[in-house]
Amino acid sequence: MQTKKKPHHFSLLPLLLSFLSLHAAAVAVAKDGRSLISFKAALPNPPPLLSNWLPNKDPCSFNGVKCQGLAANRVSAVDLSFSPLSANFHTVAKFLLSIDSLESLTLQSANVSRSIAFPPGSKCSSVLTNLDLSTNSLSGPVSDVSGLAACPGLKSLNLSGNALDFSLKEKWNGGLKIVAGLESLDLSWNDMFDEFSRRGRCRRWISGALFFINGL
Ligand SMILES: *[C@@H]1O[C@H](CO)[C@@H](O)[C@H](O)[C@H]1NC(C)=O
Ligand SMILES: *[C@@H]1O[C@H](CO)[C@@H](O)[C@H](O)[C@H]1NC(C)=O
Repeated sequence: MQTKKKPHHFSLLPLLLSFLSLHAAAVAVAKDGRSLISFKAALPNPPPLLSNWLPNKDPCSFNGVKCQGLAANRVSAVDLSFSPLSANFHTVAKFLLSIDSLESLTLQSANVSRSIAFPPGSKCSSVLTNLDLSTNSLSGPVSDVSGLAACPGLKSLNLSGNALDFSLKEKWNGGLKIVAGLESLDLSWNDMFDEFSRRGRCRRWISGALFFINGL
């Protein structure tokens, strides 16, 4: 009778392990949810899009949030484009870029303002590949963009249509040192002036090379 019991006992092990991993996944996604709720709480006047961002709800069901890709059942993408967040970049970095499993953040025309400098002590998702902050009011020297080296997996960065200062002094003072793997950098429509005081257009950065297209 006792020999029969043993295999029966062992068969519970995989069940227990899968329960534990499900539990770990639930804990992890709950942490992502808390970051999103903290972000909403930091906004002076959260836009209607965030009305279903509620505590203790599944963050994968929040408007603008996707859970897919590398980390299934974790928050992998956030897109709040065209929602007036009235947030500064510091708040975005602290609560959104720090979500461990975040692969893509798209905040096009979302009224994000102030300095692009990455807040000291804050961390950035190591799997973040796409960051779109185009058409906002980000300001300060373009060399502050270098702080995004905190996001080591970044491949595409869109800062088009902001107010970053790309004056000649800033261009050589510190310059731009971003992530080695960055494949696309769009800095068009910023406050970029070349030596002829014309608005500059910088389209892409590939393998450390900057390409400027002047005019406009
Ligand atoms: C944009 O954000 C700023 C504060 O960051 C706020 O004063 C302004 O009213 C916002 N504009 C819109 C259109 O929401
Ligand atoms: C960057 O964003 C602007 C405005 O949203 C868009 O027109 C442009 O195509 C984007 N750049 C890249 C390289 O995708």
